[in-house]
Amino acid sequence: MTLQISSLKEYQDTYKRSIEDPEGFWAEQANTFQWRKPFDKVLDWNFDEPNIKWFVDGKLNITENCLDRHIPERGDQVAILWEPNDPDGEVVTYTYKELLAAVNKCANGLKSLGIGKGDRVVFYMPMVPELAIGVLACARIGAIHSVVFAGFSAQALADRVDDAEAKLIICSDYNNRGLKNIKVKQVVEDAMDLGCNSIEHVLVHKNTGGEINWSDDIDKWWHDVVDHQSAECPAEEMDSEDILFILYTSGSTGKPKGVVHTIGGYMVYTCYSFLNVFQYKPGDIYWCTADIGWITGHSYIVYGPLLAGATTMMFEGVPTFPDPGRFWQICEKHKVNQFYTAPTAIRALMAKGEEWPAKYDLSSLRVLGSVGEPINEEAWNWYNEQVGHGKCPIVDTWWQTETGGILISPLPGITDTKPTYASYPLPGVQTVLMDSDGNELEGNNVEGLLCIKAPWPAILRTTYGDHERCRQVYFSTFKGMYFTGDGARRDEEGRIRVIGRVDDVINVSGHRMGTAEVENAINEHPAVVESAVVGYPHKIKGQGIYAYVITQNEDTDDILRKSILDVVVKEIGPIAKPDKIQFVNGLPKTRSGKIMRRILRKIASRDSANLGDTSTLLNPEVVEEVKEGALV
Ligand code: PRX
Repeated sequence: MTLQISSLKEYQDTYKRSIEDPEGFWAEQANTFQWRKPFDKVLDWNFDEPNIKWFVDGKLNITENCLDRHIPERGDQVAILWEPNDPDGEVVTYTYKELLAAVNKCANGLKSLGIGKGDRVVFYMPMVPELAIGVLACARIGAIHSVVFAGFSAQALADRVDDAEAKLIICSDYNNRGLKNIKVKQVVEDAMDLGCNSIEHVLVHKNTGGEINWSDDIDKWWHDVVDHQSAECPAEEMDSEDILFILYTSGSTGKPKGVVHTIGGYMVYTCYSFLNVFQYKPGDIYWCTADIGWITGHSYIVYGPLLAGATTMMFEGVPTFPDPGRFWQICEKHKVNQFYTAPTAIRALMAKGEEWPAKYDLSSLRVLGSVGEPINEEAWNWYNEQVGHGKCPIVDTWWQTETGGILISPLPGITDTKPTYASYPLPGVQTVLMDSDGNELEGNNVEGLLCIKAPWPAILRTTYGDHERCRQVYFSTFKGMYFTGDGARRDEEGRIRVIGRVDDVINVSGHRMGTAEVENAINEHPAVVESAVVGYPHKIKGQGIYAYVITQNEDTDDILRKSILDVVVKEIGPIAKPDKIQFVNGLPKTRSGKIMRRILRKIASRDSANLGDTSTLLNPEVVEEVKEGALV
């Protein structure tokens, strides 16, 4: 089995070894998996192009490692435990044997639709077991999955399908979330009207039932295509560096980019990090509340846990339905041992009062995880005291879509924890802080830009269809380094605290958003002349979206505000809706015409007393106007 560190000394020794001999260290981890053909070389890399290859020329199939490999030892153990939206609904379980059969049937179904190695399949589905099954079925036959979070709009879905040139969309008919019934298939139809020319079929999983439109040429029912298939499907032999999936994420400019992860390195790293960060032991029930539409769901609901032979829970619903005790009720019901969620959820539940967690027996919990954004001290303490009763180490895990897996985190019970600190890098991860002139900041008690000096196995390989963009965004700021886009601090003892993005990316309720992307959406409104979007501190969401908008309309009232919000929902989805829209006559600009976001950020953050020198602006007079009209 993959190495599980069990003491501080072992962490220190392992870390040292992993840096001195990364290839030896990762080869040892990789050799605990099943390879059809062993790799010839552990690592080939340069960060200039970049060109990164792990486990070179190794042949494998990741699903053999997630599923087949576990059958002799734990074929009858539950692999996926599914808790429905309705608390009285039926819990669904798949043992490893059952999951393998379900994946094989789906894989055969996909083949019958003409899907094969290298084809792209887009998922637009709620959190139902068929989503995990479908994703694994793609991996079984070597197709590339790209899961689109089902809260995105038809336009956002079409953009992703078009960029990936996908052949198939897999969706549900409807989705129940809390009290809402969401028309999932309808969104796919709308996306098809907006683009999706590469799509040959839409495979529809009947989730809730109900009337839907149907196109005989394109639409196929999951049950018609999958149910009668054989439960045997030989796994396709894949190269270690073949693409496993594309996942779209926002950057500081332009449209979302397709982050590409490849099979071998991602497999080794997600399993290794899962076992160490959560200290999962056989028989434990592990629950990550993320959606599979995000990287957290890919790495720590599906791949990491299944590679490790764990029981992983999937939850269909929301934290506040039927009441704000739902998470804790589920923890009690399934005797959850490791619980992994986002600070925004903790803050929202904290606001509902400590009586909610107090109602339930949470004694099964051993490890509490946090991911997606900085966790503030108040939320950290509440989580620790009200949920963990002071007995469960909190693993504040820092990572990104691009990193594939957790890079910085305490190891529970092994390294210490400190509120708001993600703490120490995992073995194999060489974190450095840089100043803006490109000097490495040595020693402790420093603050700078967070970079990683050498590749770890799950690092992104490219951005789909645009390698130059990948080089430019991540590898050009500092020579020979992967630049994360985050600012961080190292304390006296070397623990790292990630402060937040230093680029034009904002993090709203743990959802990553490009300010340019939101601006482009707002600018689609016919009355909008120009806009500028910034983040500002928000008590529950972490960051809220603040939009400054110049319009042609004389009367800038709430009707216009509402219609701008509608446009954003149409272009991206409800998660990108600005919390505040301030109508302005001008935006502060440099002489070269660039919007001075620094000033706008300060005004939105109620920090306008300290704007610095504004006299060199092209239009210093607008600053006063913007300040006076600020919505604070
Ligand atoms: O700013 C960091 C923040 O989330 C960004 C990555 O977002 P995404 O690719 O959507 O992945 C989120 C889930 C892995 C990072 O650049 N972030 C993530 N985790 C933390 C965090 N910031 C502070 N502390 C964390 N634990």
